[in-house]
Formats: sequence, C-alpha cells, structure tokens
Amino acid sequence: MFEGKTILTGVKPTGTPHLGNYLGAIKPAIELGRLTDRHYMFVADYHAINAEKDPAVLRQTLREIACIYLAFGLDPEHSVFYRQSDIAEIPEITTILYAYTPKGFMNKAHAYKAAVDKNRVAQKPDDDGINMGLYTYPTLMAADILAYDTDLVPVGKDQVQHVEIARDIAGAINAHYGREILRLPQAYLRENATVVPGIDGRKMSKSYGNGIPLLEDDAIIKKAIFSIKTDSRPMEEPKNPDSVLVYEIYKSIATPEQTQEMAAGLSAGKLGYGHVKNMLLDAVLAEVREAREKYNYYMAHFAEVEGMLEDGAAKARPVAQATLKRLKDAVFGR
Ligand code: ADP
Ligand code: TRP
Repeated sequence: MFEGKTILTGVKPTGTPHLGNYLGAIKPAIELGRLTDRHYMFVADYHAINAEKDPAVLRQTLREIACIYLAFGLDPEHSVFYRQSDIAEIPEITTILYAYTPKGFMNKAHAYKAAVDKNRVAQKPDDDGINMGLYTYPTLMAADILAYDTDLVPVGKDQVQHVEIARDIAGAINAHYGREILRLPQAYLRENATVVPGIDGRKMSKSYGNGIPLLEDDAIIKKAIFSIKTDSRPMEEPKNPDSVLVYEIYKSIATPEQTQEMAAGLSAGKLGYGHVKNMLLDAVLAEVREAREKYNYYMAHFAEVEGMLEDGAAKARPVAQATLKRLKDAVFGR
C-alpha cells in the first residue's frame, strides 16, 4: 500500500513529548517511514513560533524532538529529515498559495476556531492573542505538503481538515491551469489510533500535566507510574480489567500476551495495583531504555544532529525548488 508513495510527516516542536505522544505519533511515524523509499520527516519550527516566542525554549524543544526521533530509530539515511525553516522555498510557495486560498478556509480551520472558542469562554474578544501565523497556518502546512509531491500525510484526526485544505488548494491551482502542477495529497488516518490515557484518566496531554515522561531517569518514570489513579478495592476482589486505568495504559504499550496476562490476573483477583504498576513500569523501561541512552548521547552531541538536519535540508531543497519553479512558471506565464 505504501510502496512507491511519498509520505510526509511534520511534527510541531512544542513541549517535551510524553508516552502518549510517543505511542500515538512518534513510533507510528517512524514505522510508517520504513515502508516507503520516499519519506520526508520534518520539524515544523515555523509553526511553533506562532505560539512560542522565547528562542531558548524554541531551541530546546527543537533539539528534544529531533533527538527523540533519532533515538527511537528514525534513520536519516532512509528518511529525509530536516527543519522546516531551512527550506526557504516553503514560505515562497506559501505566498503563491495564499492567492488561491479562500479566506473562508482559514475562518473554518479548526486550530483557529479552537483559539476563538477559547477566547469566547474566557469572555475575551475573538481575535485576542491570535496572530496571522496561527490564522493562516493551514496554507503554510499546505506548502509543507505540496512542496514535496506528497501522496500521503499520516495524521491524527485533528489534522485531517488541514490536509484537505492542502488538497483543495492544489486542486484549485491544477483546475485553473488545466494541468497537474501540484500532486493531490491525502490524509492517512491511522485506523484504531491509540489514545493513551494519562495518570488521572483523562487523555494524556502536555496541557493536563498528566503524562508519563519518556526519557527521564527510572525514578521519575516510576514516580509518575505509581501516581496513576487507582481505587481502594483489595487485590483479591476480581476486577474487570477495563475498570483499571493502569491496564488501559498498559494495553497501549504491552504485547498482546502481556496484556492478556494482566487482564487474567486482574479478573482472577491475583494481581494488585502495586503489581500492575510494576508490570507497566517494566514495559515502559524496556521500550525506552536503549532509546534513552541514544537520546542523551544526541543531546550532548547536538552538532552531529545539526549535521544530519543540514544533510536532510540539502536533499529536500531541490524537490521544493522544482515545485516552486513549476508554480512560478505557471502563475507568471514564464
Ligand atoms: P498534547 O496533547 O500532549 O499537547 P499534541 O496535541 O502536541 O499533544 O500532539 C502531538 C501528537 O501526539 C499528535 O499526533 C497527537 O495525536 C499525539 N498524541 C497526543 N496525546 C496523545 C495520547 N494521549 N495518546 C495518543 N496520541 C497522542
Ligand atoms: N500541523 C501539524 C500539527 O499540529 C504539524 C504540521 C505542520 C504538519 N506541517 C505539517 C503535519 C505537514 C503534517 C504535514 O501536528
């Protein structure tokens, strides 16, 4: 299904990723990238500046996210791994796309609408704190996608609309000039995408502060796992596994056999909350141990990563240049 397809993954560097980000986005992106020979993976740092203005924070989050992908196995020899802001053609393409982007698309884009809704709840003016970067974000995202002749964009549900906007803009341009100037991309929504609950039972999210950290020391990961909400039922009481939050989190990381073992132990009243938390801790540590060492290495030797990102940009740039040329030739009748 993915062979011969160009797959592009963009990731916004905002905040330190937790286990949910890893299982729901980072791991699947790396795995999917291996299924095609044309995988682009970039850090969307232009997107990040809409919300974050502190250069030290931006530098740190970019470093963290780049090192996390490498630590968990993204192969920069196989995937074109680069930083959005290293490709000057992207904002140029964006400018041309603006001329074909109905303003109504932006009004309806849900990242913008969510910001307006938040203002209304807080009884602030609709536009409060909303900059043009956020408002026009879907057009920049369209340029990210269309620049590389992308076929598939793996995304969570929240991003499907943005990919459809990219497709509509490309379709409008192709229709206007009567030929295929831009490849029409498609969102690839992972079926049964994992949503990992946090330690309080709500969706694990940076904004709720209910995450299980990924790459901290054992003791910190243990502390988070041992704070997962439980009730006062004694071990002997048979429990429906689905009523146990630790089990819900475990399911997203353990093998089917391990999951089955925990379910059986809970149902039979043979596993207490201490046991299941230790099982989860073991599973998390097994998943992250090796990556954590690599991560610490890359963070301490970021010059190497910088080199990889520059090599990636050198591979990405000619493709974006070719797209920009096709666009300019068509638009200006050159
Ligand atoms: P957060 O809610 O922690 O701020 P983001 O909205 O930045 O996370 O999401 C980054 C990526 O991680 C997205 O692809 C999103 O689908 C995925 N993701 C976020 N939280 C979870 C979760 N609890 N379970 C699975 N995937 C998640
Ligand atoms: N908007 C995406 C997010 O918030 C990040 C992103 C930017 C992206 N450009 C992209 C994702 C292009 C896929 C393709 O997560």
